[in-house]
Amino acid sequence: MAAYFDNTALKKAFGSFATGVAVATSHSSGFTINSFSSLSLSPPLIIFNIYKTETDHVDFLKNNSFAINFLSREQEDVSRLFATKDPEKANKIQHSISENQNIILNDTLGHIELSVFQQIDIADHVLVIGQVQNLKTDESKKPLIYYRSKYQSLKDE
Ligand SMILES: Cc1cc2nc3c(=O)[nH]c(=O)nc-3n(C[C@H](O)[C@H](O)[C@H](O)COP(=O)(O)O)c2cc1C
Repeated sequence: MAAYFDNTALKKAFGSFATGVAVATSHSSGFTINSFSSLSLSPPLIIFNIYKTETDHVDFLKNNSFAINFLSREQEDVSRLFATKDPEKANKIQHSISENQNIILNDTLGHIELSVFQQIDIADHVLVIGQVQNLKTDESKKPLIYYRSKYQSLKDE
């Protein structure tokens, strides 16, 4: 079937879906993502994708363990930094190292730590399905929102 839209129209349509923003981290570094989605409660699974030409997914998944850090509305600068290729980016943001050797960012809405349940190669992307191993949430914080290529935040109630 011939496509009757161009890439600009496609990006605009995809960008109409507002998302939260997270940083996927593992043993050495991390990168900003908005392709996160919960997948199943039992077993506890999530999915996100890695753009293989941008991120070294082999190194990222090397230990079979990673974390997803959900950003708060005060962390737009963290999102921007982790969307760069700065090799020192993780050292520029306060963090701790978990027992599984993952980088856990400070001051987020919360994070989950996962093991790799399955990975699926599709063209330039690898879809990663992770199984939640542990988690932490801070209910006092509000999320950072990404919508039509811009950062937004929810209005206070
Ligand atoms: C809002 C936003 C969402 C992004 N979502 C993804 C994503 O879901 N998957 C991905 O591979 N890259 C995503 N990126 C791009 C990566 O953050 C970027 O390619 C990465 O930081 C490159 O650095 P690295 O080589 O250290 O991994 C996103 C960027 C932004 C700004």
